[in-house]
Formats: sequence, C-alpha cells, structure tokens
Amino acid sequence: MSETYLPHVSVLLEECLNALAVGAGGIEVPLFADLTFGGGGHSSEILRRFPNAKLIAFDQDIEAINNGKLLLEKNGWSDRAMLVHANFDQLESWFNLNNPGKFNGILADLGVSSHQFDASERGFSFRSDAPLDMRMDSTNASVETAADILNTLPEEDLANLIFKFGEERLSRRIAARVCEFRKTKKLSTTGELEEICFLSYPSGQRHKGAHPATRTFQALRIAVNDELGSLERMLSALPKLLADGGTGAIISFHSLEDRIVKHTYKEIVANEQNRVMILTKKPIVPTEREVDINPRARSAKLRVLRRMENHGGLDGFKKQKKPWVER
Ligand SMILES: C[S@@+](CC[C@H](N)C(=O)[O-])C[C@H]1O[C@@H](n2cnc3c(N)ncnc32)[C@H](O)[C@@H]1O
Repeated sequence: MSETYLPHVSVLLEECLNALAVGAGGIEVPLFADLTFGGGGHSSEILRRFPNAKLIAFDQDIEAINNGKLLLEKNGWSDRAMLVHANFDQLESWFNLNNPGKFNGILADLGVSSHQFDASERGFSFRSDAPLDMRMDSTNASVETAADILNTLPEEDLANLIFKFGEERLSRRIAARVCEFRKTKKLSTTGELEEICFLSYPSGQRHKGAHPATRTFQALRIAVNDELGSLERMLSALPKLLADGGTGAIISFHSLEDRIVKHTYKEIVANEQNRVMILTKKPIVPTEREVDINPRARSAKLRVLRRMENHGGLDGFKKQKKPWVER
C-alpha cells in the first residue's frame, strides 16, 4: 500500500459484515459491492471472511483507487476483486454495461475518509491552511471547488446552502462576511474561511462545543460533491441490483444523510414490486467501546434492507433472528 495514503479505521465493521452475511447465506460464490472503498477496510474484511466471494468496489477518489490496487495485489486478491473509479450514482449504468450478476450484498460507508480529511492539500479540513478544493473526485475539472462556490454564489444562496447542508444557524452572518471578504480579494484558502466562521460567532461562543467552522465546512463539502443527490440516486437503484435474499447496508454520519436513507428505504418498501424489507427498525449504532477507540464513529448509523423475492414471502422474514443488537 502507498505510504502516502493515510490509514482509515472502519466503522461498524462487525455489524456490516453480519448484515452482508445475511445476504450471502448459503451462496457458494457471493457477489458483493463496496460502494465506498476508501482505505479498503470494509472490503478487506469482506474478502477475508468470505474466501469465495467476489467484490466490486467503487470510489470516486483516484487516490483511494490507486492505493486499493496496491492493497489488492499485496494480499493476492486481484482475481477476486475489482476497483471502479466512479461515483456510486453510476452503479446502475455500470451494472447494465458490465452485467456482473446481482449482488448478494451492497455496502456504502458514506462521507469522507480519514485520508481525505487529513491530507491537508485536499481542503476538507480547517486544521491546516490549504486551497479550498474539497472535490472527492479531483480528476473531474467540471466539478466546482469550494472556492468556486464561495466566490460566485449570491449572498442569500450561500447563506441558504450553509444553513441547509450544515444546519448552521449563523449561516447569514457567515455568508455576509464571505461576501464582504470577496469584495477585495478572492477567497482561496481553508484558513481564510476558518477565520471568517470564527469571527462570525459571538466571542462568548467561539470556544464552546464544535469549532465555529465545522458546520460550514460540512455544508461546502456536501455541496461540492452533491453528496445527497448521489445518495438518493444510488439508493433508488438498490432493489434492482440486489439478488434474492441480498442485503443493502448503508452507514450515514449526519442527520441529513440518515433522513434520506430512512425515507428512501420506506419508499422502496412501499412499492410491493420491489419485494424489499427493512431489517433495522432502528438504526444500528456503535458501541461505547467503538466510539472510545474511534471517535469518528460517534455519529454513525447503519440501516439494512433485504430483497426477499423467494424467501417465503415477506411474512417469513419476521420469524428470522437478527444477527445484531439494535440500540
Ligand atoms: C468513509 S470512507 C470509506 C472507508 C472504507 N469503508 C474503509 O473501511 O476504509 C468514504 C469513501 O467513499 C468515497 N465516496 C464518497 N461518496 C462517494 C460517491 N458518491 N461515489 C463514490 N465514492 C464515494 C470517498 O471518496 C471515500 O474514499
């Protein structure tokens, strides 16, 4: 693996593997999709636990894909796993073109990887000063960077974006300061934006709770990568791509994502033709122990659904025991 690719601790690993095992039960050569390869933590565990399984892994970040190629080679997995450099909203068109067979399990672990966050030049973090980029797919020149958005959006639209995707209640003040700043100079670095957010907060609130820039950075990252749109498009394709009995497992990290997963699952289930059932009435969340070891897991929520074409109808499912505990 590349020494420059920073390590990522996989979230809800056991719980995800359990969910995928439900879909792969009794299948000799299960086929899995990991839609967010990242550091390859979940994928590696899938390949270890299911020695016959085949895996197709997506990531829109070329650094994750290049590092993944080395990881697969090093472990002798290259004949069982393939990497696709694409947005996961392309899953269905990729599937129609390549016809790999339906998936026994599909996993997505949303958001940014530790590598993306900690590689300061990517601009996702305000912990160091860097260009305001935030594109997960840095090879796609047609995607607007965070700087493009900050320097061109009208003040009101910018305030709405920061409010909607960051749930930042001081969005208007922050947008006003950004527009003030750009009258004299283009906004170009994470340090400049961090300072604008910091100064937009009343002095008594600047050092309480999360850093004042946290929500604004989240909002821009979501907007730059159209994260919620991609999620909706990918989720709506799930029922068509899952094999009979196959499971779909999605880990979200904030309420905007989780709301979409929860509501889209409900819509999928409501369409009887999909023959899909939600396995997690309440989301699966990490144990205190996991959060102690990996604070990034704190807000994670896993929701699992299952396609049930020939499994005694949907009623048959209700008698099945779930291999995890819901909290
Ligand atoms: C949280 S990390 C995944 C970590 C991985 N599960 C592990 O254990 O190492 C999320 C990864 O998904 C990728 N990603 C996020 N949204 C994506 C999308 N819409 N399409 C493809 N890849 C995406 C990011 O580039 C990032 O590498």
